[in-house]
Amino acid sequence: MSEIAFLLNGTPVRVAGEAPTRTLLDFLRETKGLTGTKEGCNEGDCGACTVMVTDAAGTRALNACILFLPQVQGKAVRTVEGLCGPQGALHPVQTAMVDHHGSQCGFCTPGFCVSMAVGHLQGRRDHDTVLAGNLCRCTGYAPIIRAAKAAESAPVPDWMTTDAFNVAQISSGGAGGEAPPLGFSPRSVDELADWYQANPDATLIAGATDVGLWVTKQLRELPKPTFLNGIAEMARIERQGDSLRVGAGVTVEALREAVAPLHPSFAEMLRRFASLQVRNAATIGGNIANGSPIGDAPPALIALGATLHLRQGGTRRELPLEAFFLDYRKQDRRPGEFVEAVTIPAHAPALRIYKLSKRFDQDISAACGGFNVVLNDGKVQSARIAFGGMAGIPKRAAATEAALVNQPWNLATIAAAREAMAQDFTPLSDMRASAAYRLTAAQNMLTRYFHDLAGHPVSVLEVAP
Ligand SMILES: Cc1cc2nc3c(=O)[nH]c(=O)nc-3n(C[C@H](O)[C@H](O)[C@H](O)COP(=O)(O)OP(=O)(O)OC[C@H]3O[C@@H](n4cnc5c(N)ncnc54)[C@H](O)[C@@H]3O)c2cc1C
Ligand code: FES
Ligand code: FES
Repeated sequence: MSEIAFLLNGTPVRVAGEAPTRTLLDFLRETKGLTGTKEGCNEGDCGACTVMVTDAAGTRALNACILFLPQVQGKAVRTVEGLCGPQGALHPVQTAMVDHHGSQCGFCTPGFCVSMAVGHLQGRRDHDTVLAGNLCRCTGYAPIIRAAKAAESAPVPDWMTTDAFNVAQISSGGAGGEAPPLGFSPRSVDELADWYQANPDATLIAGATDVGLWVTKQLRELPKPTFLNGIAEMARIERQGDSLRVGAGVTVEALREAVAPLHPSFAEMLRRFASLQVRNAATIGGNIANGSPIGDAPPALIALGATLHLRQGGTRRELPLEAFFLDYRKQDRRPGEFVEAVTIPAHAPALRIYKLSKRFDQDISAACGGFNVVLNDGKVQSARIAFGGMAGIPKRAAATEAALVNQPWNLATIAAAREAMAQDFTPLSDMRASAAYRLTAAQNMLTRYFHDLAGHPVSVLEVAP
């Protein structure tokens, strides 16, 4: 692909001759002069660069600072400049921000307004969740949330609904004369499989919420950037009997919505995975493939008993997810092999996921535990327990599980299993937590799990009398 096309604030734009890893933020500010979109952190943390992106799947808020230009091919992008009406009429969320004094220095304000406008378009009332990825250093959040509430009942302005109609008319982007390629964007899994087998040094880019930082923070050149977000079949969730097959390209937010009725505790943890802007881009395949010891999905998926589907050219293989993680940042992945999907059981009523982080929202875990214990007649029939943040890889707690299985489900058994957990993990001390804190917190999660299954309130969001 040597040219891309997208709608920018309602106007078609064609881009050629750019580096495939040029961020949308730099393009907006430096090429288009749309400086309303701010650069705060340049790593997805602050939301100052939030833009509205519409495609066939709907409208989402995304961080432009870690979004590469080829990722918006064929989509409609709306910046804060595009929130106003044709004659400069303010969007209702902008009026509400003025009326409720939601802005002081104003640096964060464009990002807040765009996030709020997406929430407003979708009729959302969960403003804390919608705005958790937007940071404000001076106003304080109360006036901003008051503004979001005040705008709830205002009708969606006409000009905000045109993108969904016009986006279908964007041509798919093709040859652009002599311009250098804007990366490779396969349209099918087969095309990806052939390309990656022939080019195992290529850099696969899904949501770019990890890869984006290699460019913006580490200033790395990425060999053969290969964009996966155009492969519709890899972004599907399919029900297969008692299982869900989740394509590697499914976003964390789409997974959260899909598992909410089946695995509410998993969904609640995913609500605290980064921010809405990051979850709207980040994929489940990227979260698994990057092999981070503090990735949040793997402990939950391992506790569920997930099966990983890998593909190398025409060869497919599958393995239990825990077997994929071999050592720190070393996975069981062959050259040219990629994650195609992950399969999870649809039914696991005892599944609970607990994420512990310094800040409640939009923070990386110090430890994340997944628990799935099946009881039979008061005894533990089977146990799957896995943690992130406790070792160099997401890891099953084998000794803890062994101390539980075939034992009566009571606090004495829990005490023995807590002791056994010390054999499973020798965690690190780092800026998030000390080794001793991590181990104690993980042991406490097991006790919490016992009380949780007994129906006692354990959520930190609930205040029990
Ligand atoms: C502000 C911020 C907050 C974050 N908070 C959290 C958090 O709370 N919890 C958490 O777990 N993570 C968090 N992350 C990390 C990141 O969002 C996740 O790891 C995410 O799931 C990565 O997915 P992606 O699609 O963006 O991957 P990418 O960045 O596109 O890719 C990540 C890696 O996976 C590879 N890859 C991608 N797809 C495939 C595939 N199908 N097959 C093989 N390799 C592939 C890429 O080549 C790369 O090596 C955060 C990131 C940011 C920027
Ligand atoms: S500049 Fe902070 S999230 Fe993009
Ligand atoms: S108004 Fe200054 S950072 Fe929010």
